[in-house]
Amino acid sequence: MVTKLVGILTAGGDSPGLNAAIRAVGKAGIGAFDMQIIGFRDGFRGLMQNRTIRLGSQELAGILTLGGTILGTSRDKPHKMPVGGQLLDMTDVMLDTYHDHHLDALVCLGGGGTQKNAYRLSQKGMNIITLPKTIDNDVAMTDVTFGFDTALGIATEAIDRLHSTAHSHHRIIVVEVMGHNAGWLALGSGVAGGAEVILIPEIPFDIEIVADAIRRRSRKGSRFSIVAISEGAMSQEVAAQLQAAEESRQNAVTDEEIEAAAVQLAEIEKRRAGSTLRAANKLEELTGLESRVTILGHLQRGGTPSAADRLLATRLGSECASLIDQGVFGVMVASRGESAVPIPLEDVVGKRKCVPLDHPWIQSARRVGTCLGDE
Ligand code: F6P
Repeated sequence: MVTKLVGILTAGGDSPGLNAAIRAVGKAGIGAFDMQIIGFRDGFRGLMQNRTIRLGSQELAGILTLGGTILGTSRDKPHKMPVGGQLLDMTDVMLDTYHDHHLDALVCLGGGGTQKNAYRLSQKGMNIITLPKTIDNDVAMTDVTFGFDTALGIATEAIDRLHSTAHSHHRIIVVEVMGHNAGWLALGSGVAGGAEVILIPEIPFDIEIVADAIRRRSRKGSRFSIVAISEGAMSQEVAAQLQAAEESRQNAVTDEEIEAAAVQLAEIEKRRAGSTLRAANKLEELTGLESRVTILGHLQRGGTPSAADRLLATRLGSECASLIDQGVFGVMVASRGESAVPIPLEDVVGKRKCVPLDHPWIQSARRVGTCLGDE
């Protein structure tokens, strides 16, 4: 058997389970398929700068339960790399590193952005294979991404804890949950933690409807409420503005029109910043109940991965090593039920997996009386 040389990098925001996945690719690669593994530090930047770390059995030991990524990460894009104050296309430099190491494959672990960047490298001729990670769970074509289950647990525990203090003080606590433009985390933790209101980007909200739901609860004697709000959630008014600006961007033909649409979109995005605080203030005004805001932020990405994430990362990572052995490239290893299946990268990139409006979690939330801000 000819020893295969495999590179591995982690890109985008870190997430619990990355080290479990690195370990699985490495241990299966070395132990079952006679591979040698090297890691590139800090995502695509390390590939460009040829900064490596040996990943032998010793380096892979004891990392299963570690949070973060032993390789480091960055949000750099190969084709728009900040170099010397400029944004440069550095894909050819990365290709040189790949060839200098005589790599047979490069494994890229990341979310939606990483899938896109990895696809670019595969179009340049590298043998690329990816794994889906992100706490947002928004990567297309996989049932789930690793990192999500851990973050879901952290956000749910936070909501549990906020319930008791909200109850004691008769307050509204608005808790902001990560998730970028997808509502999986806020919806999942909101349902699991029994939040009275859950606001997600997929369902633009009317603050009057939210206030009505809280007032109704108050009248029944529950003078406290938890509002789980996704960081990407928006009011119906902002959603309409965004849609109009997006349409102008798509219809823009001249340079001036393109520029004007970009400015308009940027202004709306700027106005969205701080919307959780504004929602909390408005609810206080409309209900007469004192309100407080808790932003969970990067807490949700930290610490040891849950058992489900370790299992998922190990399933996908070990299958990744097997696919490299079989020479299957240009794919993401997706989770489908209990199986790990290769999906062509072109079917993954440019799509975001949002919460479908008929998803069972939404139906269940409505049935148990949770207000989703729209009715
Ligand atoms: O994609 C994961 C994520 O945690 C999102 O939920 C969040 O919007 C974003 O990353 C935060 O990014 P950063 O760590 O760069 O602030």
